[in-house]
Amino acid sequence: YIFLVKLVMNTETTRVLSAMRPNGRLHLGHYLGVLQNWQQIQYQYKCFFMLADIHGLINNYHASQQLNETMHEMVIDWLAAGVDPSQATIFIQSRVPEHFELANLLGVITPLGWLERVPSYKDALDELEHTDGNTYGLLGSPLLQSADILLYNSHYVITGEEQAANIELTREIARRFNHLFGREDGFEEKASASIKKLGIKKAALYAKLLIKYQQEGNDEALATARYLLQDALNLSHGDRERLFAFLENKGKVFLQEPHILTGNSTRIIGTDGTQMSIARNNTINIRDEPEVVSSKIRGMITDPARVKRSDRGTPSSCPVWRLHQIYSTQEVSNWVEMGCLSAGIGCLDCKQPLIDAINLQQHELIEKAKPYQEDSTLVKRILSDGCGRAREIASTNLKSIKQAMNIDY
Ligand code: TRP
Ligand code: SF4
Repeated sequence: YIFLVKLVMNTETTRVLSAMRPNGRLHLGHYLGVLQNWQQIQYQYKCFFMLADIHGLINNYHASQQLNETMHEMVIDWLAAGVDPSQATIFIQSRVPEHFELANLLGVITPLGWLERVPSYKDALDELEHTDGNTYGLLGSPLLQSADILLYNSHYVITGEEQAANIELTREIARRFNHLFGREDGFEEKASASIKKLGIKKAALYAKLLIKYQQEGNDEALATARYLLQDALNLSHGDRERLFAFLENKGKVFLQEPHILTGNSTRIIGTDGTQMSIARNNTINIRDEPEVVSSKIRGMITDPARVKRSDRGTPSSCPVWRLHQIYSTQEVSNWVEMGCLSAGIGCLDCKQPLIDAINLQQHELIEKAKPYQEDSTLVKRILSDGCGRAREIASTNLKSIKQAMNIDY
């Protein structure tokens, strides 16, 4: 996968977070586009896979009754796809209450305009006009997402391209926090570079005042140094803020600015010929039984030019062909192309090897899911173990964040 190349940091300490909103059964698009990535990356990095139940609620609080069941099935799908709870931490957002706490703390410093400008919020608003869905939760949803990410000091977030703006917001919030309360990465080096910009004389004076304040606790030295910085016209805003912070030796933490990993963006076609998605109700779900797969594929639309069996078709204008390209061998693909172009095969003939290939994959998933389906306490145990592990890290990190914000009393 392309994104693995980008990960050049120490694998043991590189933290990767990914999450899914529980809003229905997972389908083959999730399997090929997300879960296979998770399965691979969990052995290389410290991975956190989160069930974003509160984001699910925010999106549709009328469906709260389905949440528990949806999440249970979702975890079974993850496990069936090879997510390994001894490698990765699987947890539920709301069972780590530190997420809410951090979201509120970050809310203190997040300008309202930043949230109002998030594209997903603006899009949602257009759709939600005159409904009861335009909630405070919806506006705060990217802020909660930022908390999800920053709470674990995640280096990378695996998510879809459509989330890029949200990750950018997370970076901005982290930067703002660091600027206000914390310390940037490489702070010392950057501070000494900023000091140089003061010019030789002022730099020497700043250094003297710094020592006087930090070592002797001389408040007058602090005031003079502040005045000096205020007055130094050749400092950029950023340099000045940094040197203010450096004076007071502020902050013990800095929040990691996460990078987005979009993974492989396999777009899989659904049974109606448009992209497979829960909303379009055109999915083949992970662990669908063989008969279900068969009837869904058999009912799939084909090249509209092939009305009668004797009509020739063109694979490139047929959604079934798009699935063949993912699931079939070169040999089968050749057979499809020839048979379709010459009307040598019928569409049902064409669909059969595809049905078989998908069912082969499903068979493995169904088998792997069986123990978890038979004994639901297994999933419960995996979750309570994962939530415990997540919470331990979350509470340690939150503690130092609160320290930096001077509310650790
Ligand atoms: N907002 C994401 C979605 O709608 C789900 C999500 C919540 C998420 N928290 C996250 C994704 C943290 C990545 C990282 O799909
Ligand atoms: Fe599509 Fe196959 Fe029918 Fe051609 S033969 S139109 S590729 S289903």
